[in-house]
Amino acid sequence: MNIAIVGATGNVGRKIIEVLEKKELSIDNLYLVASSKSAGLKIKFKEKEHEVFDLENFDFSKAKITFFAAGGKISEKFAVNAAKNSIIIDNSSYFRMDPDVPLIVPQVNPEHLNDIKKNIIANPNCSTAQLVIALKPLHDLFKIKRVVVSTYQSVSGGGKAPMDELIEQTKSVLDNKKVVSKNFTKQIAFNVIPQIDIFSDEGYTKEELKMTNETKKILDEKIDLTATCVRIPVLVSHAESVNIEFEKPFSLEKIHSLLNRAEGCEVYDKREDGGYMTPLESEGKNETYISRIREDKTKKNTINMWIVSDNLLRGAALNSIEIAELLIKKING
Ligand SMILES: NC(=O)c1ccc[n+]([C@@H]2O[C@H](COP(=O)([O-])OP(=O)(O)OC[C@H]3O[C@@H](n4cnc5c(N)ncnc54)[C@H](OP(=O)(O)O)[C@@H]3O)[C@@H](O)[C@H]2O)c1
Repeated sequence: MNIAIVGATGNVGRKIIEVLEKKELSIDNLYLVASSKSAGLKIKFKEKEHEVFDLENFDFSKAKITFFAAGGKISEKFAVNAAKNSIIIDNSSYFRMDPDVPLIVPQVNPEHLNDIKKNIIANPNCSTAQLVIALKPLHDLFKIKRVVVSTYQSVSGGGKAPMDELIEQTKSVLDNKKVVSKNFTKQIAFNVIPQIDIFSDEGYTKEELKMTNETKKILDEKIDLTATCVRIPVLVSHAESVNIEFEKPFSLEKIHSLLNRAEGCEVYDKREDGGYMTPLESEGKNETYISRIREDKTKKNTINMWIVSDNLLRGAALNSIEIAELLIKKING
């Protein structure tokens, strides 16, 4: 199996390389691709230095599967052509709502892999991926009517540059120097920003609309979801405060056991000081952690919970590779 990664020098690309190293996929050749500025750079994979190729003249027929992780504009410009010769797993938002492109979280809707029409498969937004993994087992049993979610998203969700900027801004504040925001709409150090991506006419940001639309496409069109997405000064992992209304009555014991048994989920909920997961502790872990599960006594059949997961892993690299694993199984019959 020959594999290519477009955006191999970025946050998600590097994570894909890291996860591929640990997986048992047999890879004959790995092609690393990025912009002309990175061409010639060497990145280690399985003890061997791999040269980075310039996207502009990369031949996609070399790779059976190509991961795209270089942003929507690059996917828009290169993925359709690349898909003539390679199966594309795209991390950007560009194809996610295309009806001819399946949007997949392997633990939730693997059957959508049968709907490939353009040789392109989309990977969801990082906040959506961790949310639907936790919603799926509950929806199967109690039927979700409505979800109200507020996110606490780390700066790595925006790429490598915002991570560097958070560190720079933090140093500037501590050194009493002037803070200049380049990748954020306001100062992020020692602050929180209730805007991720651009605003729509209705006042929701694009990130918030992505959560609504992608959850419907992956899990169930009938689920109503409203979101408030917030950037916080944390490097990696996203947290979400989630209120879920079911059609059917539930018991908290059943919810605990369903979530604990669900693939990709782990309940960490001790109802004591520190008995919950935080972004820092979830960094580098594959699981989606669920804490603070409690009944919302103000509304019938409703619960509150706290979901935490590594956005670069679960929300991007790991999910993409799990899609590739499903695909390889399908190809090999
Ligand atoms: N971060 C997350 O949590 C997350 C989760 C889900 C999906 N995603 C999506 O994944 C994609 C990548 O995100 P990221 O966080 O990895 O971003 P990033 O750290 O900013 O990396 C961007 C990558 O794209 C490459 N690139 C930029 N312009 C290019 C060009 N003109 N030609 C070829 N390559 C180019 C960069 O290469 P150079 O180093 O050569 O510039 C770099 O490898 C985005 O679409 C993002 O929305 C991210």
